[in-house]
Amino acid sequence: MSYNSTGLSDEALKKYIPLDMIHLTEVDSTNTYAKSLAGKKEITTPLVILADSQHGGRGRLGRSFFSEDGTGIYMSILLFPEISPSDIQHITTAAAAATCRAIEALTDLSPKIKWVNDIYIGGKKIAGILTEGSFDPVQGKISHAVLGIGINVFSPARGFPEDIKSIAASIFPETYPEHTDHNSFFREKLAGRIIDEFMVYYKSISQKPHFSDYKKRMLLTSQEVSVITPISCTDAKVIDLLDDFSLLVEYPSGKREALLSGEVSLKIK
Ligand code: BTN
Repeated sequence: MSYNSTGLSDEALKKYIPLDMIHLTEVDSTNTYAKSLAGKKEITTPLVILADSQHGGRGRLGRSFFSEDGTGIYMSILLFPEISPSDIQHITTAAAAATCRAIEALTDLSPKIKWVNDIYIGGKKIAGILTEGSFDPVQGKISHAVLGIGINVFSPARGFPEDIKSIAASIFPETYPEHTDHNSFFREKLAGRIIDEFMVYYKSISQKPHFSDYKKRMLLTSQEVSVITPISCTDAKVIDLLDDFSLLVEYPSGKREALLSGEVSLKIK
């Protein structure tokens, strides 16, 4: 096996990833690619789409996700979950807990989850999760969901783009290192480990088996934040994570509200 290029090795990916997989050198977005496969009737079991780089990586709330070759993991899992549409959040939150557990298992770092879908290390975002579900109105249930996970593993050689450089970081501060354990070998292993951890939760996803693993890694508990919606920005204190993964916050007036992730983002103050 050669690790001289920054690309991931098919052979190693197959060794670590316990599901059917398509490995692409470059794609616009692994989520978009996975969605385009969703209607094909021969695909009925979970399928992983993994790319070395993306030129149109997407994040929540219409944001883009920086996805340079050789620096990260960009993957989507096409899933056929037996859950109600309101429970789609369980997939995102299970992936967040799984990503933290996998990083903890392979490094000595302690990643934290910024509700609802971001992973932080040292106060900066190193990973994001985007789940996109499709509802079948005839059957009255979710026909499929695409779980996308993007992780900055190494620092990009030219640094992060201007607009994200103050908030983005990578698991390892160095740029892609040749011939060490921290090269593509690490990315292949980490991708496999995340999927392993996620699939354990996924087996019983409607029972929220990941709730306590998620809650204990939360970055924002007891913190002062700004609650940002498309039309407002309000100060609040984070009180607790509720059973449905909504976030209980308290406003300066004393009023409490359970936030659903949809259109809300939080800024740490
Ligand atoms: C976020 O930061 O809001 C979520 C980022 C999700 C990025 C991943 S990378 C793999 C998959 N393909 C995409 O286009 N997005 C997700």
